Amino acid sequence: KKVVLAYSGGLDTSIILKWLMETYDCEVVAYVADLGQGEELEEARQKGLDTGACQVIVDDLKEEFVRDYVFPAFRAGAVYETQYLLGTSLARPVIAKGQVAAARQTGADSVSHGATGKGNDQVRFELGYQALAPDLAIIAPWREWDMNSREALVAYAKKNGIPVPVTKAKPYSSDRNLLHISFEGGVLEDPWAAPPEDMFVLSVSPQNAPDHPEELTLEFHKGDPVAIDGEKLSPANLLARLNQLGGKHGIGRVDMVENRYVGMKSRGVYETPGGTIMRAAHLALETLCLDREVLRIRDGLLPHYSELIYYGYWFSPEMTMLQGMMDKAQEPVCGEVRLQLYKGNITVLGRRSPHSLYRPDIATFEADTVYDQSDATGFIRLNGLRLRIRHALDQAKKG
Ligand code: ARG
Ligand code: SIN
Repeated sequence: KKVVLAYSGGLDTSIILKWLMETYDCEVVAYVADLGQGEELEEARQKGLDTGACQVIVDDLKEEFVRDYVFPAFRAGAVYETQYLLGTSLARPVIAKGQVAAARQTGADSVSHGATGKGNDQVRFELGYQALAPDLAIIAPWREWDMNSREALVAYAKKNGIPVPVTKAKPYSSDRNLLHISFEGGVLEDPWAAPPEDMFVLSVSPQNAPDHPEELTLEFHKGDPVAIDGEKLSPANLLARLNQLGGKHGIGRVDMVENRYVGMKSRGVYETPGGTIMRAAHLALETLCLDREVLRIRDGLLPHYSELIYYGYWFSPEMTMLQGMMDKAQEPVCGEVRLQLYKGNITVLGRRSPHSLYRPDIATFEADTVYDQSDATGFIRLNGLRLRIRHALDQAKKG
C-alpha cells in the first residue's frame, strides 16, 4: 500500500505521516504543494524524509493556482456570504489534482489529507479526489484516530520522535497561499473578541498605513488582470505584486462569521490584500463593458456559483456549465482601471475600455440627436399600467 499525503511540514501532517505508516503499514509519499504560502519548502522536504516518507514531492503550483483557479473565480466575481473571497476553498481542488497526479506518477493506491472531520476542507479534498480519480482509496486520519486534543497529538509526536516546535503554538489556526491567509479557532472562537493585532501577516492595520495615497492602473483582458501600471505580469507575479501594494495600505481584512457546509457557524478572519484590489477594479471595469441584462443574470447566479466553490464542487458538471457562461460574459471585459489606495480603502478614480457600452453622446443632459425624449412618455405609461389598474380596483372596493 502506498499513500500520497497532502503534507505541509507542520506538526499535524508530520504526525499524520507517521500515523499512516504505523496504522496501515504502508509507504507514504509526502506531497508538498507550493501555493505561495511563504514558507521554506525545502525544509518541509527534509522534514518529510526525516519523518519517514519514502519520497517527498515539492510541487510548484503557484501559476496554475492563480491562472486556473483564482482568476476564473474572480472573472465570475465569486464571493461567499458577501465577504469571503474563497482563498482556502480555491486552494483545495488544485492540491487534490496535484495529489492525484503524484499518485499516478508513484503508483500509489491511496490519498490522504490533514483536514479535520468538522470542516469544509475534508469535503473539498475528497470531492476533488472522487471527481478526478475515484479508484483511489481515501484516508482521513482526523476522522479515524482517537487523538482529540493538542496534548494527545504532542504526546504522539514525542513518542515517535517528531520534533515539536519549541516556539509556543499560535493561539489560532491559519492557512496561507498567494490569494489569502485565513485565521480560525483558538482565541478567535469568541466572535465578540477582536483579533489580536499581531496575528496579521499580509497587511498593516489601516491606522499604520502610509499617510499618502498611492495610485495604480490595472489592465484587464477578458476579465483577467494582465498588467500593473503598464507592466505585463504572469498571474502569480501580478497577484504577489498586488498583495504587496494592498498589504502596505491595510487593504483586504475581513472578520466574519460564516456558515460551513457541514452545518455549523464558524468565525473566520481573512487577509486578502491583492484579491480585494483585483475585485474592486474588475467590478469597476464591468460597469462599462457588461450589458445590463447579462449583468443581472450573472449577479443572480453568483451566490450559487460561489457556494459551489465553497462547498467543494470545483470539479463538477454544474461548475463547468457556470464557468462557461461566466467566461462568455467576460469577453468584452478589457481595459484599464485607475485606483487609489489609502488606509484600508480602494477608490476607483477612472476606468476605460475599447468595448465600453457607455455613450456620453446619449447619456448627456445636453441636446442630442439619437434619443427622442417623447419616447419615454409611452414607456412610462405602459410600465405604469398595472399600477393604475390596481389603484382603480382599490378605489372601487372602498366604494
Ligand atoms: N473557513 C475558510 C474556508 O472554509 C478557511 C478554512 C481554513 N482551513 C484551514 N485548514 N485552516 O474556506
Ligand atoms: C479543518 O477543519 O481542517 C479546517 C477548517 C475547515 O475545513 O473548514
